[in-house]
Amino acid sequence: MTTTLESPTAASLLAWYDRHHRDLPWRVSPPMAARGVKPDPYRIWLSEVMLQQTTVPAVKAYFAKFLERWPTVDDLAAAANDDVMAAWAGLGYYARARNLKKCAEAVSADHGGRFPDTEDGLRALPGIGDYTAAAVAAIAFNRQAAVMDGNVERVISRLYAISAPLPGAKPIMKQKVALLTPADRPGDFAQAMMDLGATICTPKRPVCSLCPFNGACQALAGHDPERFPVKAAKKEKPVRQGAAFVAVNDEGEIFLRRRIESGLLGGMTEVPTTGWTARIDGETGIGAAPFPADWQPAGMVTHVFTHFELRLSIWRAKSVSQSDNHDGWWAPVTNLEDQALPTVMKKAIAQAIPNAFAKSL
Ligand code: ADE
Repeated sequence: MTTTLESPTAASLLAWYDRHHRDLPWRVSPPMAARGVKPDPYRIWLSEVMLQQTTVPAVKAYFAKFLERWPTVDDLAAAANDDVMAAWAGLGYYARARNLKKCAEAVSADHGGRFPDTEDGLRALPGIGDYTAAAVAAIAFNRQAAVMDGNVERVISRLYAISAPLPGAKPIMKQKVALLTPADRPGDFAQAMMDLGATICTPKRPVCSLCPFNGACQALAGHDPERFPVKAAKKEKPVRQGAAFVAVNDEGEIFLRRRIESGLLGGMTEVPTTGWTARIDGETGIGAAPFPADWQPAGMVTHVFTHFELRLSIWRAKSVSQSDNHDGWWAPVTNLEDQALPTVMKKAIAQAIPNAFAKSL
């Protein structure tokens, strides 16, 4: 017996979303919209930039902190760069934080503090790419824009059993999303696709029995939804190595400095570190220490970046004297939360001083 698949409809997904949407701090849910609440483009934009490559639970605390400190785009535009970088520390992808600030400045200075309300207008702003332009246009301004992130790719690839591998299959997938996106409630449709991908159409063990598309899903009809999306074989990440030097003085302070503006983690705070090199004879030892001290080995830290894996040898020195370091500053070990320390640097410090960041790592 062959079963006939239904055609998927936006209406069935929207009916599911009306009952099962997630309540998120930046979201105007269907009941709120019925009470006349309108989305705040600043909140939508901020959340979408934060949510790229980061999960909803990880973003919530950062979102609350940003909104408390900078309630409007004009406030963010007027903020000190260093304060924004410090507030972003831990979210990763620091070029995004710099672009966030530039975008706020452009909206404030060139658009009177109001975000453009079209996909093209949004894409013209610094740091706003195809995804963010479509997401903000749809969610904040109810434009019929096709929004596709990793969750949506999974849903659409299963719905249509798209066997071409990612990333090459993205344009085909986007076309399918565009065809399914309705003129009415496109913003809710985009958010519903994301919620469906996050809660029902999960990478492993999707809960197909609860899915509004289960009568239309070609992957489910083929009995193997987990096979999708098909992904091109990943290349192994290259390994780079280096050393990091954690110096503490008798006041319980740690020596920190600022990375140069350009390049990876540009402008963020670090403990002194060597260059990170793929060369096997690259300097990872005490010879690369930034100043003489009683350096002791303190183990290794590994951190995975987008394009390589870093293995850092950690060195520790105590009772370092204050006088001979000019290119950085000393900060109390017990109060490092205000420093713009990326996660790899927090790991290096925690490796040398195990009770630093007892709460947050
Ligand atoms: N992930 C990224 N943006 C999202 C949104 N607006 N709703 C739910 N999940 C998301």
